[in-house]
Amino acid sequence: MTKEARLIIDGKEYTFPVITGSENEDGIDITQLRNQSGCITLDPGFANTGSCISSIAFIDGEKGVLRYRGIPIEDLAQNSTFIEVAYLLIWGELPSSKQLARFSELLTDNAMLHENLKNHFEGFPWNAHPMAMLSAMINALGCYHKELSDLDAHEAMEAAAARIISKVRTIAAFSYKMTLGEPFIYPAPELRYVSNFLHMMFSVPHKKYEAMPEVVRAIDLMLMLHADHEQNCSTSTVRIVASAGANLFSSISAGVCALWGRQHGGANMAVIKMLEDIYDGGMDAKQCVEMAKDKNNPFRLMGFGHRVYKNYDPRARILKMACDKLFTKLKHSDPLLDIALELEEMALQDDYFQERNLYPNVDFYSGLIMRAIGIPTNMFTVIFAIGRLPGWIAHWREVVEDKKGRIARPRQIYTGYNERHYIPIDKREDK
Ligand code: ACO
Repeated sequence: MTKEARLIIDGKEYTFPVITGSENEDGIDITQLRNQSGCITLDPGFANTGSCISSIAFIDGEKGVLRYRGIPIEDLAQNSTFIEVAYLLIWGELPSSKQLARFSELLTDNAMLHENLKNHFEGFPWNAHPMAMLSAMINALGCYHKELSDLDAHEAMEAAAARIISKVRTIAAFSYKMTLGEPFIYPAPELRYVSNFLHMMFSVPHKKYEAMPEVVRAIDLMLMLHADHEQNCSTSTVRIVASAGANLFSSISAGVCALWGRQHGGANMAVIKMLEDIYDGGMDAKQCVEMAKDKNNPFRLMGFGHRVYKNYDPRARILKMACDKLFTKLKHSDPLLDIALELEEMALQDDYFQERNLYPNVDFYSGLIMRAIGIPTNMFTVIFAIGRLPGWIAHWREVVEDKKGRIARPRQIYTGYNERHYIPIDKREDK
C-alpha cells in the first residue's frame, strides 16, 4: 500500500505522498506544499530535511551503520583499498581487474600539475593554511582543463575523476612543501597512490622517503573511511553548487571550504589542540568533560557527537583499532592517546553524554594516527579532503545526471522590518 501523509493547516487538510527508500526510510514529499497551502517548512540545520534521493551511501545513525553502495564500511576496511572504493562510489560497482588497472593508470598519468599552475603557489604567503590553498588551487585547476567541462560521456567523467583525485594529492603535498619552504617533490610514477603522496610530502632532494607498508595502509584506510558520508555539510555544499550548473572543479573547491569548518572536517585539528591543551597542563580530562557539559561555555568535547550517529561512529571504531595496531607496529607512544582514551571512558560513563547519545566520531582518533605518521596538524583536514573526493565526485555526478534536478534554492521565514521608506542622510538620527 502506498503511504501518504496528511497535514492540517488552519482546518484545511492536505495530503502528500510518502517516498520510501530501499532501507525503508520514509520521507514526506512536500514539493507541492507551498503551491497548495502557501506554507513552507522550517528546519534550520536541515536535521529533518531530505534534500535529494541518492543511491551512494547509507547511514543508520541509531545502529551505527555505514555502507558505500550497499557494502558495509567494515567489509571495505577489511578487504578493499581507497582507489577501489573511489571507483565503487563514483560508478556504483566494484571495478573488474581491467577497470581497476585502467583507472590506476589514469591516476598515474595525471599526477603532474601544469608548470604554470605550480607558479600559483608563489602567490600564497608561506603560512597560508593548506585548506585555503587547496580550495583555490582546485578551482584554478579547472581553468587548465576546460576540455572537461562537458562531462556527458563516461570516458570524460572517468578522465575528470582520475585527474582531480590524482592532482589534488599533488596539490596537497605541494601546499605542505610551501609551508616548509622546501622544493616541490614531483610525483613518482612507480609508486601507488598513497605511497606517492607520502613521497611528495616527506621526500627531500637529498633523501627519498620510504613509507613503511603499515603507514601506507593506515593512510589508505583513513582515506577510505572518509570517502563518503551522504548529505554532510561539505557534500551538500558540492551538490548545491553543482545544482547551479557549476563545473566539477568549482563545486569541489566549495566543498573543501565547507569541510574546513571546525564543526565539520576541521574537528580533527581541534581534537589534537584540545588533547595538547590538556597535556600542557591547561586542564585535566575531568575539567574538559565538565567544561563541555557547561551550557554557559561554548566549549564542546571535540571529536564527540554527530548529527546522524546516535551510536558509536563505525569509522571511529575502525580507526581506534587501526591506531592501536599502528602504534604497536611503530613502537610508538603518544601521551595524547592516553588522554584520548581517558576522555572517552569518562565521557561514555557520564549521564550528560549518555542522555544525548554523544559518542566518539571519526575525528577523535584520526588525528592521533596522522600525528604518529608525522603529518602536521594543519594537514589533517587536507587528508580528510583527499579522502572525501570520491564521494564529492559521485554526488556531483548524481546531481548533473538527474534530468529532473532543479537548482537548490531554499526559502526562509522573514522576520525583518515591514515596508518602510528611505530616510535622507540629513534626517537620520545618530544612534
Ligand atoms: N560536547 C558537548 N556537548 C555536545 C557535543 C560535544 N561535542 N556535541 C553535541 N553536544 C550537545 C549539544 O550541546 C546539545 O545539547 P542540548 O540538547 O542540551 O542543547 C546536544 O548535545 C545535541 O547537540 P546538537 O548541537 O543538536 O548536535 P548537532 O547535530 O547540531 O551537532 C556536531 C553535531 C556539530 C558534530 C556536534 O556534536 C559538535 O559540535 N561536535 C564537536 C565537533 C566535532 O567533533 N565535529 C566533527 C563531526 S564529524 C565530521 O564532520 C566529520
